[in-house]
Amino acid sequence: MSIRVAVIEGDGVGQEIIPVAVDLLRFLEPEFELVPVEVGYGKWKRAGTAMDDDDLELMRECRCTLFGAITTPPDPEYRSVLLRLRKEFDLYANIRPYRYMGVHIPQYRPLKPFNFTIVRENTEGLYSGIEEITEERATTMRVLTRRGCARIVKAACEIAKQENIEITIVHKANVLKSDVFFKNIAVQTAVKQNVPYGEAYIDAMAYHLILHPEKYRVIVTTNLFGDILSDLAAALTGGLGMCPSANLGDEYGLFEPVHGSAPDIAGRGIANPIGAVLSTKMMLEWLDKNNSATLLGEAVEHVIENRVLTPDLGGDISTMEVGAAMLKYLEEHAC
Ligand code: NAI
Ligand code: MG
Repeated sequence: MSIRVAVIEGDGVGQEIIPVAVDLLRFLEPEFELVPVEVGYGKWKRAGTAMDDDDLELMRECRCTLFGAITTPPDPEYRSVLLRLRKEFDLYANIRPYRYMGVHIPQYRPLKPFNFTIVRENTEGLYSGIEEITEERATTMRVLTRRGCARIVKAACEIAKQENIEITIVHKANVLKSDVFFKNIAVQTAVKQNVPYGEAYIDAMAYHLILHPEKYRVIVTTNLFGDILSDLAAALTGGLGMCPSANLGDEYGLFEPVHGSAPDIAGRGIANPIGAVLSTKMMLEWLDKNNSATLLGEAVEHVIENRVLTPDLGGDISTMEVGAAMLKYLEEHAC
């Protein structure tokens, strides 16, 4: 049976970068069945909801989802689509690889090449949704479970095992009791998985990651810490437009560039499609289509080496032209 993939372009630049990724995917895996699903602000304006049960059903009938980005509707009652998807499909592991690829933002150039992956817990922690606000006091409950901590660290260990590298467990156990809980389970899990580990406090980690990103390989941490470190790491690689991610559960995967719908540049045809293309590469790896994944990675390296770049990377090439250059590379190199 052919593999079905749900495709959500979403809003803003999602509608510009996902078509690029889809063209490359169609070329590499013509037998995949791509199922478009309309989700996001556009749908909310039209139908009063950003995602309905039918959309979820369509996604469920697929093996995984390729996702662009959605604009958050201006409605205090709005429930985040991504948070809901993470819960519905139990996508507990947010995997974000960062690699120095020879481009960087003008303000910052890393001293040495680096290659690390942030593994962020995606379903609990401070994003538990258990909150109380009164006139005088606001509280948010940080919920960590044994199962949640163990499975995210196990996911990090699986990545580390592939390359025989160590994991760095990031926490704030010097202050937070819930982080003592996380740290203890993380260490037990690493030992059980036979994976070497180091530890770092989240604040020190932010500092060291900027100074010495080359020292880290797999960083595993809780939800909010991972969210913040991820954006910091994006600045090391050349910007948000470069960065891919996977949201993985035991059964399902959702693959999306790290960035949002970028309303400031949407509609101008200048969005960087690399994050979306590298997310598609992660999806192909997850589906065991390793030849296609390798080719897609090469196509990205090809455009970077030849400076076929969008304005965020200092170039003046359009989204579609970058896509066309990658497609040409695939046509010339696929057997
Ligand atoms: P953003 O990631 O959309 O944009 C931040 C900055 O990065 C902007 O200057 C933008 O131009 C730039 N940028 C982003 N993607 C780019 C690309 N592919 N190429 C070149 N430059 C790129 O974050 P922002 O502005 O905070 O949020 C915009 C909207 O997106 C909001 O409604 C927000 O809620 C939503 N959002 C959605 C996400 C998702 O669907 N996964 C994630 C983050 C934000
Ligand atoms: Mg974020």
